[in-house]
Amino acid sequence: MSIVNAKEIMVEALKGGYAVGAFNVTDLLQFEAVIDAAIEKKAPVIVQTSVKPSQFLGTNMMVAIYRTLAESAPVPVCLHLDHCTDVDYCKKCADAGYTNIMIDASKQSYEENIRQTKEVVDYCHKVGNISVEGELGTVSGVEDQIKVSEDEAQLANPEQSIEFVARTGIDIFAPAIGTAHGVYKTKNPKIDFERMAIINKMLNGNGIKTPLVVHGGTGLPEDYIKKLLAAGGAKFNVSTELKRTLIDAKWEYISTHRDEYDPGKLDKFVRDETRKAVIHWMEMLECVGKV
Ligand code: 13P
Repeated sequence: MSIVNAKEIMVEALKGGYAVGAFNVTDLLQFEAVIDAAIEKKAPVIVQTSVKPSQFLGTNMMVAIYRTLAESAPVPVCLHLDHCTDVDYCKKCADAGYTNIMIDASKQSYEENIRQTKEVVDYCHKVGNISVEGELGTVSGVEDQIKVSEDEAQLANPEQSIEFVARTGIDIFAPAIGTAHGVYKTKNPKIDFERMAIINKMLNGNGIKTPLVVHGGTGLPEDYIKKLLAAGGAKFNVSTELKRTLIDAKWEYISTHRDEYDPGKLDKFVRDETRKAVIHWMEMLECVGKV
């Protein structure tokens, strides 16, 4: 039960009125911390890697870590490839054992987005129990190799979203609704909650078929998170916050223990700070105790 795809746990989340956290990790320590939090809080979880960390550690190493940690965890864990713009790399990760793949062709023309997304869907569904995430519209900000300026960012059109999902056969859908990668420049970012609710109603109003993903979790005010949850958000992506936690925790520990040369103690502190950040998200997403 521990190795699952994203759609499986998101459907459960929608039925139960909660959402699942999807946390971007770059190394083993963060990977362990996310699973620590999920076990401690009895919560389902999605661990995700963007393309660069996946290439840095290697897909086989990533999947070996995933299987080792997830197989012994008493909670469902999904390994997701985030924002991959390369169809061949999506296929490589599917072959290696990722259980959810995001093909991000959102910067391409609409027809090309459909073509590439469908190619990945067909491949993943043939290879195994792998769900696929697609995106329509564009999320502004920087995530790994993808940069979208505010001027370029475009919200997803509801009618086109329905057609996109139908023609590609994706399992989970990320509509651009105004959230952004990185740190929000304002305390009250402009998010189109209504657009999210309309798309969710059109897709899932007659029974859950294609759960929705919210990108750009870092810095979203808690009341926005609750509104997005109510509007149908079943997976919330959090990346920048964990990167900051990692660097800040290392900095804090090293600067207050300048004469200590015990990497194990440093790692324990960083892992613990990361675990606490993940737990805070799990509480906001109301997935604590759901397993
Ligand atoms: P943040 O970096 O804003 O948390 O966004 C994460 C994300 O959406 C990854 O896909």
